[in-house]
Amino acid sequence: MDAQTKENAYKLALSQVESVLKGETDQILKMATVNCILRENLPYYFWTGFYIAHGEELLVGPYQGTLGCLHIPFGKGVCGTAAKERKTQLVKDVHQFAGHIACDSRSQSEIVVPVLNKSGELIAVFDVDSSEVGSFDEIDQRYLEELLKDLF
Ligand code: SME
Repeated sequence: MDAQTKENAYKLALSQVESVLKGETDQILKMATVNCILRENLPYYFWTGFYIAHGEELLVGPYQGTLGCLHIPFGKGVCGTAAKERKTQLVKDVHQFAGHIACDSRSQSEIVVPVLNKSGELIAVFDVDSSEVGSFDEIDQRYLEELLKDLF
């Protein structure tokens, strides 16, 4: 997908999320809806979902795609690294990321964004996988971080 098409898809997705979720407060409702709207607009999303923080562990939450891993400790894999460092992980080729956890061997690239609540606590990470190498770039990072910034 070229950069302009991707930007337009994200702009549309973000405006849909904003109008559909206006006034909503339920966390699961919001997570499920974000997955659906993003996946409908971004065709290269192979797996999309939230891992919810419970102590020092992530548990799989609302997602769309093939069977996700159920438990991921903080510090393990791409998701656990994003949770521990509270920093987006942009992985162009999962085979180059030491400790990557392969829930589905078709995943080739990945982006994971930490999700904080209004008090600044980490409540989850948002994970997107693609079945192609190099699907995610700074455009994905920018729009996903913007979308998730004040959502919870
Ligand atoms: N690849 C992730 C695990 C989650 S799945 O991609 C759904 C990781 O390394 O943390």
